[in-house]
Amino acid sequence: MSAIALLAEHFDRALIAAFGSEFAGTDPLLAATNNPKFGDYQANLAMSLAKRLQQKPRDIATQIIAAIDVSDFCDPPEIAGPGFINLRLKTSYLEAQLQQMLTDDRLGIPPVAQPQTIVVDFSSPNIAKEMHVGHLRSTIIGDAIARVLEFQGHTVLRLNHVGDWGTQFGMLITYLREVYPDALTQADALDIGDLVTFYKQAKVRFDDDEAFKEASRQAVVGLQTGDREARQAWTLLCDQSRREFQKIYDQLDIRLEERGESFYNNDLASVVQDLDTLGLLQEDNGAQCVFLDGYTNKDGNPLPLIVQKSNGGYNYATTDLAALRYRITTDRADRVIYVVDVGQSSHFEQVFQVARRAGWLTDAVEAQHVPFGLVQGEDGKKLKTRAGDTVRLRDLLEEAIDRAKADITQRLASEDRTEPQDFIDHVATVVGLSSVKYADLSQNRTSNYIFSYDKMLAMQGNTAPYLLYVYARIASIGRKGGIDFSAFLSAINTVVILTEPTEFVLAKHLLGLEDVINTVATELLPNRLCQYLFELSQKFNQFYDQCSVLQAEEPQRTSRLQLCYLTAKTLRQGLSLLGITVLQRM
Ligand code: ARG
Repeated sequence: MSAIALLAEHFDRALIAAFGSEFAGTDPLLAATNNPKFGDYQANLAMSLAKRLQQKPRDIATQIIAAIDVSDFCDPPEIAGPGFINLRLKTSYLEAQLQQMLTDDRLGIPPVAQPQTIVVDFSSPNIAKEMHVGHLRSTIIGDAIARVLEFQGHTVLRLNHVGDWGTQFGMLITYLREVYPDALTQADALDIGDLVTFYKQAKVRFDDDEAFKEASRQAVVGLQTGDREARQAWTLLCDQSRREFQKIYDQLDIRLEERGESFYNNDLASVVQDLDTLGLLQEDNGAQCVFLDGYTNKDGNPLPLIVQKSNGGYNYATTDLAALRYRITTDRADRVIYVVDVGQSSHFEQVFQVARRAGWLTDAVEAQHVPFGLVQGEDGKKLKTRAGDTVRLRDLLEEAIDRAKADITQRLASEDRTEPQDFIDHVATVVGLSSVKYADLSQNRTSNYIFSYDKMLAMQGNTAPYLLYVYARIASIGRKGGIDFSAFLSAINTVVILTEPTEFVLAKHLLGLEDVINTVATELLPNRLCQYLFELSQKFNQFYDQCSVLQAEEPQRTSRLQLCYLTAKTLRQGLSLLGITVLQRM
C-alpha cells in the first residue's frame, strides 16, 4: 500500500477515535509537501473540520495527533501554522519499502481488490477513409489507458468501433460498379490510397447527381437486406482498409478487437422498438426521435436525437445506443470508456442520456467519454502536409523514424562510434515511434497539441529520448560494473541504506508509482504518468551527479546500485504502460 493510502487509513481511525464514527471517511486532505523542512506530507483536514466541530483548527489538530499512531512508519507528527499536520516518513520504512519493490515483479503494487470488466473503445477509424491524426491520438491514448487498467488487474475489452457501415458504402459500390467493377469482386484490386480517391470522387458524384444518389441509396438497401453482390463488395472493401489499419497497429504494437458498427446491425430495430415501448420515442418530420432533456434549439424548443431517419435508415447514434446496450448487457461491463475527439462530446452526452432514460445505463455502470483536442501543425493550424493535404499516418511515422535515424547517425559520428546498421535501424525505430507516442501522451489530452518532430525527438526536456537515455545510462552502469542486476537481486542480503539528500529524494519519488497509476486509472490522464517518469529521470540524474556509485565503498555501493536498478525497473514498467519499449543501449 502506498504511504498516502496508509496515512489515510490511520487518519480515518484517529478521527473516529477522537470525534466519533460519524467522522469515518472524512478526506484527510493529504498532499506531498513542497518543502522538505515540513516533512513529506501535510494533512489539512483540521482546517476543513473547524466549522463542523466548532473548534479551532489547531485544537483539532492536537486531538488528532493525540489519537493517531503512525510510529511504525513516521516520525512523531508535528503541527504547523494554523493547524497543518506535518508527517515525515521514517528512513527505516523507506528502506524497507524499496526493498519490497526491488524483489517484486509488480514493484510492490498489488492488483486492485475488485477487478472490473472495462470496455475501452478507441482508435475506431472509418473504412474507405484514411486513418488520420485524430485516430492516431485515440489509438495512442486508448492503448495507454487500456494498459494501465490491465496492469491494475481489470479485464479490459479493447474495442475498435470501426465505421464500417452506412451511406458511404452505397456511394462507393455504385461508383466502383461504374468505373472499376473488378474492385468489387477481386481482393487486392485496390489499395487504400485508391480507395480514398474513389471515395472522394464518389462523394462528388453523390452530391451533384440525383440519379447517382438514388442508385447509392438502393445499394445501401441492398447491403442492408443482404444482397449477395453488395455484401461481397462490402467485405472486400472492408478487408482492404483493415489490412492497412493493421499495418499501423502492428508498427505501434497495438492490440485491438474489431467490432465495427456493422456488428450491431441486427440490434438496431430492437433498440428503436424498445425506446418506443418505453414511451421515449416521438415522430418529428417523419423521423423517429427521442427529445433530449437540457438540449434546446435557438427557439428554446427541446432538441431531438434522431434514432431512425424518415427513410427508415439508422444512424451513428442508433449504433452507439445498440453498442452501449450490448456492452452493458452482454459484455457485462462495469465501465465503458470512449476515447474520441472532443468534437463528439455532445454526441456522447446525448447517447448516455437516452441510454440512462431507457434504463440500460444504470448507476452501477460508469460510461465516460474521454475527449482529446486537435493535433496542430507548427503554425497552430490543423496538421496538413506542405501540399495542404491530410497527413497520412504511415508517412508521419516513417518520417519520425527517418529523423530519429539522422539524429543517431549524427550522434554516433560526434562520439566517434561505429555501430552495425541493424543496431541503428532498431534504435531509430524505437526512438521514432516512442517519440510520437510520448509527445501525445505527455500533453494533457484535453488540450490541442502542436506536432513538432524537433521537440519530440529532443534529447532534453520531457521527451521519450530523454527518458530512454536515462534507462540506457543505468543499463550501462550495470555493464561497466560487470553487474547482472537480476543475479544481484537473488543474492539479496544487502539492504538499501539512505544517507544523502538526493538519495532520499529519489527514494521517495520511486515509492510514488502506485499513487500515480491509481490517479491515471481514475482520471484517465496518461500525462500524469509521463510527468512522474520525467521527474524520476531528473531525480535520478541529480542523484547520479551527487553520489558516486561504482566507485563508492560498500555497503553504499550495493545500496546505490539497487537504487539504480529500481529506477530502471520503474522506468521500464512505467514506459511499458505508455506502450513504449526501452533500449539497453542507444
Ligand atoms: N468512427 C468514428 C470517427 O472516426 C469514431 C467512433 C468512436 N466510437 C464510438 N463508439 N462512437 O469519428
